Amino acid sequence: MNRLFFSFCFLLVCSVLILPATSPARAQTFISGTVITSDGMVVASGVVALERGELHNNEFETGGVIGPDGTFKIPLPAGGPWGLHVYSEGYLYFPLQVRIKENEDNEVPVVLPVDGSRKDDPQLSDFRFEKSAQGRFRVRMTVRDGNDNLGPQMLAIDGANFKSYRLVPVGGDVADKKANFPEGEYVSVEINGDMDELDKSQWFFVAADHQCSNGVIYSGLNQSIFAQPKPNPEPLSCEIPGIWKSNFDKTYRFTASAPDQFTGEQFEGDLILKKISKKGDLFHFSFVFDNEDGRADLALNCSELGVELKGSFWFPKSGRKDTWVFTKLNNEKKTISGEALFKNNCIVCHFTDSKAKKVGPGLQGLFKSERLPSGKPVSEAEVSRQIKQGGGGMPPFAHFKDEEIQALVEYLKSL
Ligand code: HEC
Repeated sequence: MNRLFFSFCFLLVCSVLILPATSPARAQTFISGTVITSDGMVVASGVVALERGELHNNEFETGGVIGPDGTFKIPLPAGGPWGLHVYSEGYLYFPLQVRIKENEDNEVPVVLPVDGSRKDDPQLSDFRFEKSAQGRFRVRMTVRDGNDNLGPQMLAIDGANFKSYRLVPVGGDVADKKANFPEGEYVSVEINGDMDELDKSQWFFVAADHQCSNGVIYSGLNQSIFAQPKPNPEPLSCEIPGIWKSNFDKTYRFTASAPDQFTGEQFEGDLILKKISKKGDLFHFSFVFDNEDGRADLALNCSELGVELKGSFWFPKSGRKDTWVFTKLNNEKKTISGEALFKNNCIVCHFTDSKAKKVGPGLQGLFKSERLPSGKPVSEAEVSRQIKQGGGGMPPFAHFKDEEIQALVEYLKSL
């Protein structure tokens, strides 16, 4: 944990993420996600490029477009490690090491930080498609950069075929990928395909500099693809439960366990979180790393720029200490349990294992009878109505969401 940070933009946004939560098995392997931003928006335009293997090895291979609803879904030829890069104009680009499970749709949380200084963004122009041989072509573009810190990411993305290509300086690639890349013309490898049949509106060009700034993203028709981001209907909540990324490139999930108590797990790591508790304004962490007990005091900061947990950690025995910063990536998806809702709201008045009256009628076998205790015919609609509106001595539960009512109905059906 005391290893040095990467230089440049890696400091900001890199992370290693292995998500256990994936949707049920499907025949194909996908990576998908919704691109939200630290200032509470969902992006409406952008592109995604993926490197096979380790992040920043520059083996770009697949890619795709972010839809107007901020989502992307890209088929991958294989599982295992991939480097994910997400770009949207006005935000810093987001690199993330992901581990892909085969034959599943791997959902990844992406939060783009606001790009506070747009003036130093790389400038792209002069996009060209050039036939190089029969059935083969190259793409070219010109790149300028006011502050002369271009990185190796000069990309062309073929959205229709889910491909990405890294363009290199016409004079030859730069060996040291951390060096500043030259301004000027960049060209792709030879790409298979009939140039006359290309749908240039489905090609995209983007470049990023060493500070993770990407400028305008263009289509192959030389048009900016920018669309205004929309407010995020579910902004990042200012609370501990959720998925977080630390400044040590690790991803965590924190869960509420009791009032002011939380549990946490680190994905694919060797840090064990033993206890998180809130005292006053601070969250106290106790953990084990490298067989050594550690402590941390972190404060929750919520602002327009994001939701952050920040403070220091230390090891009482060795005295080692450093800064720990967590950035929130996702709210925790709350699973709605009909049984839990029933226990918390209904059990005081209804038995579930008999038809005997408590305050209200016993609900055992409710959906297996023809009529409800009131004499009305059994139906989901009538039971939902009773829950929402109450009546006959039962209070209304008008604040329940449709999913909660549905979960309760499913639970009642099981009785
Ligand atoms: C304060 C007591 C109370 C609570 C809490 C309560 N109920 Fe009831 N419930 C009743 C009473 C009393 C009736 C009988 C109403 C009637 O006869 O019209 C009833 C009736 C019902 C019925 C039968 C409706 C019918 O047409 O016969 C269902 C189903 C039901 N409740 C479900 C629930 C569920 C689900 C919850 C929790 C979300 C809940 N109740 C919470 C008191 C309660």
